[in-house]
Amino acid sequence: MHGTRDGLNWPRAQALAARESASYIARNPASARLAGLAAQHLLFGVPMHWMNDWSTPFALTVSEASGARFRDVDGHEYVDFCLGDTGAMFGHAPSAVAQAIARQASRGYTAMLPSEDAAPVAAELARRFGLPYWQFALSASDANRFVLRWLRAATGRDKVLVFNGCYHGTVDDVFVDLVDGVPTQRDSLLGQVHALTDHTVVVEFNDLPALEAALARGDIACVLAEPVMTNIGMVLPEQGYWEAAQRIIRHHGALLVIDETHTISSGPGGYAREHGMLPDALVVGKPIGGGIPCAVYGFTEEVARKVEQAKRGAPPGHSGVGTTLSANMFAMAAMRANLEQVMTEAAYQRMFGLAARLADGLRDVIAGHRLPWCVTRVGARTEFQFAPSAPRNGGEAQAILDGELEQIIHLYLLNRGLLITPFHNMLLVCPATDESDVARLLTAFDECLGEMR
Ligand SMILES: Cc1ncc(COP(=O)(O)O)c(C=O)c1O
Repeated sequence: MHGTRDGLNWPRAQALAARESASYIARNPASARLAGLAAQHLLFGVPMHWMNDWSTPFALTVSEASGARFRDVDGHEYVDFCLGDTGAMFGHAPSAVAQAIARQASRGYTAMLPSEDAAPVAAELARRFGLPYWQFALSASDANRFVLRWLRAATGRDKVLVFNGCYHGTVDDVFVDLVDGVPTQRDSLLGQVHALTDHTVVVEFNDLPALEAALARGDIACVLAEPVMTNIGMVLPEQGYWEAAQRIIRHHGALLVIDETHTISSGPGGYAREHGMLPDALVVGKPIGGGIPCAVYGFTEEVARKVEQAKRGAPPGHSGVGTTLSANMFAMAAMRANLEQVMTEAAYQRMFGLAARLADGLRDVIAGHRLPWCVTRVGARTEFQFAPSAPRNGGEAQAILDGELEQIIHLYLLNRGLLITPFHNMLLVCPATDESDVARLLTAFDECLGEMR
């Protein structure tokens, strides 16, 4: 059994952490001053409490972001491999989106009525993802919540099945983990008073017998899944897994919801389209409007009919689906420009080339330091993990997370003008990233590992 720190000189790594922390404080006086001011009126000192979970002693304040780069208030420029944890996967402020929202800015934002962009956006989503009917939400969390509601209503079944270690946003239903094989409500959830395990079934990814056994009870409305797990470190489906899993799901009368919010890195139609999967419903959030808050979800013809029936057959009143600003004119304009002009095949081809170069380079650096780590890539998304081979499921992925080690590497890179995603080791490239950005990242990563040997 390998440990995440095998091959490292841990006292040296800890000394490096202290040095980088001091360097960050010295480098960022303007961010420090603003963090002090923010602490007076922002709960936890930041606009969202999790902004304190980066590797930094205080939050870095951004002054502007464009393409693959952003600048902080101390005037440092960064190459951004985090890209808003996918919200800016096609670059910050892509010009087609910037122009579309500038145009919309003087033409109204929200009217609780469709704008002229609604029909073309839906048609493009249908073409791209292969599902005929679409609805909108303000975030992927909301989209997932709404899909679960629709599908419970449409099937008359009340349970959902998720994979251990999954994340689909702040959807309460999914926060059930397998702890020593026992479904257990996540204890970090605040203010959660419902017994989540009553209606959520959890199994390990890549475990077909467990999936079959859970579905055989006949009470599961849908399986909600990322086609590749990305939120506990990446976990790839094994050869043939999804073909068999889809057969089992269908056989037991359940529906498959694929959440492509992160795996949209795989291609213009997401991982499912690239790999011939046939989900009953599909969700994409974060980058679908170029970073403007919005999300989409689509259904097959058959599911759409059942969903419509469920709504028409229900008493009048609130459905529990939808929020006032969902599908607003501003977001529609952003989505249309982004889908038509930014998320193009050509943009993806460029990103794939760079991500391949990045993944190969990371493997070379890791091998050069003889560390037992691996690298996984899903299109434009690349990740290094602290184990000799990629994890097969959420349980294994959880076991190789090492927050302290991640933070040392992240802070080292940040102090050298390179941002990667916090919480694990994910790097995204966007169409504006270039070869020299990748080369810079690889050099700094190499030096960082050198310091910890
Ligand atoms: C796969 C997946 N689905 C949904 C979400 C939720 O997105 P949001 O926080 O924008 O609602 C996330 C967020 O990381 C995600 O990774």
